[in-house]
Amino acid sequence: MNIIVAGVGYVGTTTAVLLAELGCKVTGVDVNPDKIAALKNGQLPFYEPGLDQMLKKHYEAGNIAFSSDLGTVITDHDVIFICVGTPSQADGSADMRYVREVLSEIGATMESYKLIVMKSTVPIGTQVLAEQWIKEAQHQPYAFDVISNPEFLREGSAVYDAFHPDRIVIGSKSAEAATKLQVLYETLNCPVLTTTPATAEMIKYASNAFLATKISFINELARLCDALHVSITDVAAGMGYDPRIGMAFLRAGIGYGGSCFPKDVRSLLHTAAKQGMSLHLLQQAVNVNDTQYKYALHRLRDLLGTFQGKRIAVLGLSFKPETDDLREAPSLSIIPVLLTEGAVVQVHDPIASIPDGMRADKLTQHPSIEDTLLDVDAVLLCTEWNAYIQADWEKLLTVMKGSIMMDGRNALNRERLEALGYQYVGIGLGN
Ligand code: UDX
Repeated sequence: MNIIVAGVGYVGTTTAVLLAELGCKVTGVDVNPDKIAALKNGQLPFYEPGLDQMLKKHYEAGNIAFSSDLGTVITDHDVIFICVGTPSQADGSADMRYVREVLSEIGATMESYKLIVMKSTVPIGTQVLAEQWIKEAQHQPYAFDVISNPEFLREGSAVYDAFHPDRIVIGSKSAEAATKLQVLYETLNCPVLTTTPATAEMIKYASNAFLATKISFINELARLCDALHVSITDVAAGMGYDPRIGMAFLRAGIGYGGSCFPKDVRSLLHTAAKQGMSLHLLQQAVNVNDTQYKYALHRLRDLLGTFQGKRIAVLGLSFKPETDDLREAPSLSIIPVLLTEGAVVQVHDPIASIPDGMRADKLTQHPSIEDTLLDVDAVLLCTEWNAYIQADWEKLLTVMKGSIMMDGRNALNRERLEALGYQYVGIGLGN
């Protein structure tokens, strides 16, 4: 099968590699010529473990090609996966500009039947609009199907997730079109759910909204645990053994970030508002998340007395480990507060860099953890990179001025750090 993947960000590139492994010939298309040029040179414009090697393998084998012009390659392809971004707009709704642009281009350039597979996270009801946008752009009424096939990839483990999906959701009006996709995914060996397109679109939002709510639930409870001198980590473990609850996504910390949860939750709230409804529980999950980093700062401020004149190390910029993605990362909310309140901030991240817009005299990024901790009064861990978990904390304490360790992800070994002489504080650990 010859497939176009439109939009080669982390979802599109991972999807292209998966489809190539499944035996398809794939053309990755993007309107950004720089991105296409970089990919042709084997360079990923973002960090995703394992993806570059797989891409190289399939590119060199001729299974994946790239183009910046959909119109010139569409004729040779029967199937088009849409993987373009749907970023948040000011009112919380998803910006459908890129989806609409690519669908219009498909409509305007197609000269035979096309199966269009929507992987981008799009508001419920988009499949109907998608058909309309394609028809409006068509010069002749060629047949097509638009299927909703949401992705559930996590950044940092996108390749693994693509090859080991928990489930595949296919939302299609046409049974024949759904079967084509089912055959394509046959070897992935996981439950396949076929639904209406709108249901498939809702499944994606509901999944992310539920996971975000789970995190906010445990984060809010963590604040109560601190007040009651109870450990949220033990509470979460005690809850998680109940299979109805499960261990996953009960790690308390400084809140969720990334390219999906914040955006998708806002979009679902916007969809509900358009129906004249409020999703109260989900709104509260957002409120908890919006204040969770402030809670961590409040605890750190209490320990230091003030941030004024204090030197603070921030470990980790990215919204989670194994990615350089800074979108909605809690660190980007935390650092400006520290600077505004007069702290000197020394930052480390194994991959991500301080964004240009945040540069300030009292903000520096250092290549090593040791340099970052030099003379600091306190450390604030924002991202649980393995490098921090494995670090030589005994040696690192000797370069610090103070001994405060605020573990914003409850990721470090509390007993060991306390034994070494750190004043260790986590989120909801009750100390
Ligand atoms: C998420 C979904 O998991 C994925 O299915 C969807 O396709 C895209 O959005 P991703 O954003 O890559 O994936 O990261 P994820 O691992 O889900 O973590 C999201 C955020 O929640 C991170 O900031 C992480 O640190 C935080 N988190 C996660 C917690 O604070 N506690 C947890 O227990 C789990």
